[in-house]
Amino acid sequence: PRKIIVDCDPGVDDALALMLATTAPDAIQILGITTVAGNVPLEKTTRNAQWVMQMLGRPDIPVHAGCSRPIMHRTGRTASVHGTDGLGSIRPEDVAPAAPDVHAVDFLIETVRRHPGAITLCCLGPMTNIALAMLKAPDMAQQLEQIVFMGGAACVPGNITPAAEFNFHVDPHAAHVVLSTGRNLTMFGLDVTRRMTVPAGRMAAMRCHATDPARMMVRMLDDYAHGDPALHDPCVIAHLLRPDLFSGVAGHVQVDCTSALDYGRSVAALSERHRDGRDPNCRIMMQGDRDGLVDLLAHALTRLEGG
Ligand code: BDR
Ligand code: CA
Repeated sequence: PRKIIVDCDPGVDDALALMLATTAPDAIQILGITTVAGNVPLEKTTRNAQWVMQMLGRPDIPVHAGCSRPIMHRTGRTASVHGTDGLGSIRPEDVAPAAPDVHAVDFLIETVRRHPGAITLCCLGPMTNIALAMLKAPDMAQQLEQIVFMGGAACVPGNITPAAEFNFHVDPHAAHVVLSTGRNLTMFGLDVTRRMTVPAGRMAAMRCHATDPARMMVRMLDDYAHGDPALHDPCVIAHLLRPDLFSGVAGHVQVDCTSALDYGRSVAALSERHRDGRDPNCRIMMQGDRDGLVDLLAHALTRLEGG
């Protein structure tokens, strides 16, 4: 199986992505999860990740807490669409941590060095931890097999402001550090993710699950769908399971860290003329097979039921 680390801020769609990853053990081995402040503050994203992994039957996978704020701002913006605790209307309980208290940034660096060339880093939240790891260990980017991230928007408007996508807007400086490594990046921005919604009929079928873990996941999805029906983060994991579901173009992506109105906006140069001599730094995903993605989710729910 492919070795991955998931950096996330659960977050309903982060939790769904974790479900996709844990229910496909033949294809994906999660070496660890790192958390960051994003949809909700760090204490909650960490608690949520631990709780979700316990519910998914994988409390053995270590969860390492990372940065509690973006690089340049004292606090980051949060996303009310995930509810006050981050998992819709669910009130997750505290879970005893499975791992020693190693900071996410150190866990990332050490784990990548232990598996040179073998790890896929999946980034589902603001990229603060990843940027700090790259600054602390400049060799890290070279030692990753690839980075697949959810963030930005190449050719469509933002979701947290008219200009910016949430993860980029919370910590554009971190996104800038990661984008400037130029290393095998795959971008799932709003161009593709915002179209990945669950049709009503498929949602109704998903509500029929009987066991607790599957019912919890569907309840979260139901709560979240009222505010944002898009399966942003699951696209990253789905791409590892079924690369044929998505297609994209090569481009050079930058992020605006300075202006007021466009703060956090990604600017994608797709044509050679716009790239102006710069090499592409990303494969920018543009199209996705929504039914294929929903099939993967439905299959994961069945696996959770023991099927
Ligand atoms: C991104 O923002 C968060 O609210 C989601 O979890 C996703 O990572 C979508 O813009
Ligand atoms: Ca997220």
